[in-house]
Amino acid sequence: MTYTVNDKCIMCKHTDCVEVCPVDCFYEGENMLVINPDECIDCGVCEPECPEDAIYATDDEEDPWYKHNLYFSEEANWPNITDAKDPMLEYEKYSGQSDKTKLFKKLPYKEI
Ligand code: SF4
Ligand code: F3S
Repeated sequence: MTYTVNDKCIMCKHTDCVEVCPVDCFYEGENMLVINPDECIDCGVCEPECPEDAIYATDDEEDPWYKHNLYFSEEANWPNITDAKDPMLEYEKYSGQSDKTKLFKKLPYKEI
């Protein structure tokens, strides 16, 4: 099992999650974070820290968000993030919105 980040993080990026991770396995994209599922030790301490409820446990390797987290943490060269910082400027506008997938921003990698 691993923990993974879904679209609720998009345009918010509160980063409370990275402060508590004992193995520093969060990676930062332009408008969301992902977890490297191969580095995550399933401790679960990040899940309750996210104000957007964007982190959940899964053991389904076909889960699109599992694949998304795996791809962007391992193949897309997103930088590791270990210190919290301010959330995105307009996070209040996007907080709680459903299905923010269309708002996902990336360098020219691949569609999800
Ligand atoms: Fe890090 Fe634990 Fe969250 Fe995995 S479950 S990302 S190891 S804090
Ligand atoms: Fe995103 Fe929640 Fe972390 S909004 S940056 S998963 S605290």
